Amino acid sequence: MMCIRKNERLMDEIGRIAEVAGYLWEKGWAERNGGNISVDLTALMGQEEKDLPALAPAFPLQEPMRMLGGHIFYVTGTGKRMRYVAKDPFANGSLIRIAPDGSSYEIIAEQPVRPTSELPSHLLMHDFLRGKGRDNRVVLHTHPTDIIGLTHCKPFLDSRTITRTLWSMIPECRIIVPKGVGIVPYEIPGTMALAHATIRQLEEHDVVFWEKHGILAVGEDIIECFDAIDTLSKSAQIYLNARMAGYEPEGMTDQQLDDLVPAFGL
Ligand code: 13P
Ligand code: ZN
Repeated sequence: MMCIRKNERLMDEIGRIAEVAGYLWEKGWAERNGGNISVDLTALMGQEEKDLPALAPAFPLQEPMRMLGGHIFYVTGTGKRMRYVAKDPFANGSLIRIAPDGSSYEIIAEQPVRPTSELPSHLLMHDFLRGKGRDNRVVLHTHPTDIIGLTHCKPFLDSRTITRTLWSMIPECRIIVPKGVGIVPYEIPGTMALAHATIRQLEEHDVVFWEKHGILAVGEDIIECFDAIDTLSKSAQIYLNARMAGYEPEGMTDQQLDDLVPAFGL
C-alpha cells in the first residue's frame, strides 16, 4: 500500500503548512475554524502517489478549473481548527486530486476530510495564477483582527488608500508587500461571487482583503505568504495604536517610500 508519509519532500512541505497553521493560531487570527490553506503539491509527488485511489466518490466543482487538471493540493478541512491543523495536518485536512478536465475533485489521502468551504476561491485563484504562468502554489486565508478592523472603515475600502497607509507605517511593509493590497467588497463566504471578485484583484496584487472578513495571500512559499500578512498586520497595529493614543500617525513621506524602490530593487 502506497504511503505518502515516505515522501520526505512532501512531508517537509506538510510540516511547513503545519508550522504556519500554528502561527495563525498563536497570532489570534484563527478563532474556531477561521482561515484555510491550500498548497499545490503536484511537483513533489511521484506518479504512483498521484494515482492513489479516491477515498470517496468525486465531488463536482461549480465551475471547471481547466488549468488544474490532474493537480494535487493539500487543503485544510472545513470546520477544522488551525490549532489542530498544526498538530495533525492529515486529520484536519486532506490531499485532493482535480479531475483531468477540471470538473470535479477526489480526496486521495490520508482521511476523507472534506475541504474548506472556501475551496471555490482557493481553486479559482490557483487556476487563474497558473493561467497567467505564475508559479504561486500557495493560497493562505486568515482572519487578522487589526486588518479586518480597518476594513470596517469606508475610506480604507480603497486599494490605494489602504496600501499607502499601511506602507507608510514601516519601511518593511513597502518592501515585503511591493504590489500593495487589493480590496474585495463584502460577499457571502464560500461563494463563486467571492471567488471571482478575488481573482480580479490578483491581476495587480498578491494580497487581497475581504471586507469585514479577512485576508488572502498568494505566493510560492507558505512562510512568505505568512510574512506578508504578518507585516501588514504590524502596520495596521501601528496605525490603530497611534489612533487609540489620540494622534494621527505621521507616516513615511512619498519621497521616503519612493526611495525604497531603487534601494531594494522593487
Ligand atoms: P472553513 O472552516 O470552511 O475553512 O471556513 C473558515 C473560513 O474562514 C471561511 O472563510
Ligand atoms: Zn474566512
